[in-house]
Amino acid sequence: MSPQDTALRPIVDAAANGTPVVAVRDLVVSYGANRALTGVDLEIAPGLVHGLIGMNGSGKSTLFKALMGLVKPTSGSVALFGADPRDARRHGRVAYAPQDEDVDDAFPVSVREVVAMGRYGRLGPLRRLRPEDREAVEAALERCELTDLADRQIGALSGGQRKRAFVARGLAQGAELLLLDEPFAGVDKRSEATITALLRSLAAEGRTILVSTHDLVAVPALCDELALINRRIVAQGTPDETLRPEPLGEAFGGFVPVEALRREVAA
Ligand SMILES: Nc1ncnc2c1ncn2[C@@H]1O[C@H](COP(=O)(O)OP(=O)(O)OP(=O)(O)O)[C@@H](O)[C@H]1O
Ligand SMILES: [Mg+2]
Repeated sequence: MSPQDTALRPIVDAAANGTPVVAVRDLVVSYGANRALTGVDLEIAPGLVHGLIGMNGSGKSTLFKALMGLVKPTSGSVALFGADPRDARRHGRVAYAPQDEDVDDAFPVSVREVVAMGRYGRLGPLRRLRPEDREAVEAALERCELTDLADRQIGALSGGQRKRAFVARGLAQGAELLLLDEPFAGVDKRSEATITALLRSLAAEGRTILVSTHDLVAVPALCDELALINRRIVAQGTPDETLRPEPLGEAFGGFVPVEALRREVAA
């Protein structure tokens, strides 16, 4: 087995006992008087790429934050791997790349160091990277096609490269669940294809991905399942089941994004 194989071990049957990776029940999240999520029900099965689709302000980022335990539910519940999200975070089972990753351009940290942060939760008492940690970091960099950029400052990467660096950090961490809030925003078609292929290969080895995106044309190639959100989940299913006028109209407040239907017209 190559070092890469051992460093980034595939996830074997993450939820063999049938527990969904994500289970959200009747979740309400409010910011003061503004109810961002109202009665969200969502179950996510392992080993698939799940898309989260909705218009601006529909609650996508709020849902990601709720899954990470970063916003407090007004009511309802969130479970990751059948337990409190804090457990999954503590054990490094979930990684989150926020929509607006705050990176100061002058932040004196290399791409390799950012990826190595994924290992911090596992370090021994000396808090030093061991050979297996370094192996995992190099394997994650390679997997995300960042080896050549590993010594650059994180602030000196393009938006698309930076998104990949945060995926690599989650990979080095060994996360089984990756939560990616708009990894394609401001990313060109080539980087989008690179990220899509990467996410597909991660799912093929048993990891679970939840990814929000506004690129509805790219969704069928990326996602096995979609959840359409408009402060609650209005539809969940395969792209064929959900990219239809009625659920799209409900998700987008009566406005049906026609690009999502082009496939149907072409078929
Ligand atoms: N920190 C906050 N304080 C108050 N209101 C907020 C806060 N964050 C989000 N909101 C509101 O909650 C609602 C949902 O916002 P959220 O960021 O979850 O939407 P989104 O689907 O991620 O949108 P976008 O596609 O623009 O990223 C919006 O009405 C937004 O204005
Ligand atoms: Mg958002």
